Amino acid sequence: MLPEVKRLFDRNRMWAERLKEINPDYFSNLAQQQSPEILWIGCADSRVPANQIIDLPPGEVFVHRNIANIVVHSDLNCLSVLQYAVEVLQVGWVIVCGHYGCGGVRASMMDDDNGLIDNWLNHIRNVQRLHSAELELLDDHRRERRLCELNVIEQVRNVAETTIVRDAWKAGAGPEVHGWIYGLGDGLLRQLCVQKRGDGELNVLRKSLEEDCDVHP
Ligand code: CO
Repeated sequence: MLPEVKRLFDRNRMWAERLKEINPDYFSNLAQQQSPEILWIGCADSRVPANQIIDLPPGEVFVHRNIANIVVHSDLNCLSVLQYAVEVLQVGWVIVCGHYGCGGVRASMMDDDNGLIDNWLNHIRNVQRLHSAELELLDDHRRERRLCELNVIEQVRNVAETTIVRDAWKAGAGPEVHGWIYGLGDGLLRQLCVQKRGDGELNVLRKSLEEDCDVHP
């Protein structure tokens, strides 16, 4: 085995041993079932690991990640995760979590040719067009940060508009859908919006988080 790979297996064994020291039945209990309360839809960025950010152990968070935390109504992967989370696991919350300094959001604002991924980034370009009046008033740095926020808010709308969530809400069940954004520069989460069963409109909690601008890349 390559030393780099062996190192990962060593780390895994030490991690499992540490957890078993705290609770010898930890893995045997967890292997029986999962009952997470949260579905996390986040960015694939290595700096935004779902469980670590909210400091929750295995078994507590059902996770879907892709570039720039996008929810597309024709993405069978994301919709299958959402359906399983809502209908089988019956999670209480879906959290769409974006982050400032998102490479996908940044790339969507450039004219560069990125190949296939540009098709994916077009979903963020749609968000940009939808909010162009607001975004055009901002300087480059603030525009990028605001687009990171608006992208989360629009993806929360997309989650709430799926047949999966609409049908669950109609049946008097279904999760709350929250939009959060994470600061790479300080490790902190901020709440952007929330939509619950019975809410006609998306409840946007913070219009803009511009006051936090200086502390983030
Ligand atoms: Co990102």
